[in-house]
Amino acid sequence: MKDLQQLYPTPGPATLRGLYLREPLLPRDWDNGIFVYSNFVISIDGRITTEDSSTNASGVPKAIANPRDWRLFQELAAQSDVLLTNGSHLRRLKNPRVKSVLPLSAKPEFQDLHDWRMARGLASQPDVAVLSARLDFELPAVLLQQQRRIYVFTPSTDRAAVAGLRRAGATVIEYAPETIAGGMVGWLEQAGYRRLYSVAGPRVLNSLLEDDVVDALFLTTVHRIIGGDSARTLHHGALQAPADFVLRSLYLDVTNDPQQTLARYDRRR
Ligand SMILES: NC(=O)c1ccc[n+]([C@@H]2O[C@H](COP(=O)([O-])OP(=O)(O)OC[C@H]3O[C@@H](n4cnc5c(N)ncnc54)[C@H](OP(=O)(O)O)[C@@H]3O)[C@@H](O)[C@H]2O)c1
Repeated sequence: MKDLQQLYPTPGPATLRGLYLREPLLPRDWDNGIFVYSNFVISIDGRITTEDSSTNASGVPKAIANPRDWRLFQELAAQSDVLLTNGSHLRRLKNPRVKSVLPLSAKPEFQDLHDWRMARGLASQPDVAVLSARLDFELPAVLLQQQRRIYVFTPSTDRAAVAGLRRAGATVIEYAPETIAGGMVGWLEQAGYRRLYSVAGPRVLNSLLEDDVVDALFLTTVHRIIGGDSARTLHHGALQAPADFVLRSLYLDVTNDPQQTLARYDRRR
């Protein structure tokens, strides 16, 4: 079913299901190093999160989260060999109301993505990298049960916390705070990983951009203004040097209510 309109580069009808699987993730001239990508769903007033001041809980605003974007999120995850998350996300998982966003989903509608990975000889789930300074989280049992490797990258010198995570099954790698994102990406590349998908938020994006290791950004912009007091936007803090991107593809999704645009930006090198 053609339920999208491609606007760029070649206008015409398109289909949401399989969209990010059909388009090659890696640019044609890619040099075979690790490819780092992230995605966000965002309102047109630039919000990616809401915060509940009574519970201190935060999350993707319900007003913009939608199953069509979630499908694309899963397709991006399906192509990764390692997912990047952070300590704050793992702390949020303690709240039973927070659903895990360390895919792939086991729901039947995503079985095709498991099949897609299997057909390419990929593990059933990507491994997990965690950025954390605080180290005050527990490794989710489900990740260990799924036999996924878990790497924790940290500037922390808290020996007890590091030892505890190692005992629990994680590989902990220590870096100075100013080089941690670039160091992590280089370490994962050396370990043989080729597709790192960041599912974390604005601070992690900031760290990745500061070290200039982001290669592509997928943005679903929901055509809705949601307002709010929290200042959580795509990015946290000013960058020392701005990072420029080029539009690689753009789709208009009029099937979603409200409509949304699906953009892929590649880092201009
Ligand atoms: N709309 C969307 O698409 C979207 C996408 C992602 C997230 N979100 C939302 O955005 C909000 C914030 O998400 P988040 O807290 O996961 O994202 P975040 O702001 O990227 O992550 C913050 C945490 O990451 C760790 N971290 C970041 N940079 C680090 C560095 N250089 N060194 C060491 N640790 C570092 C720290 O963990 P420790 O505290 O453990 O030290 C820090 O507290 C949430 O409400 C989330 O739901 C929305």
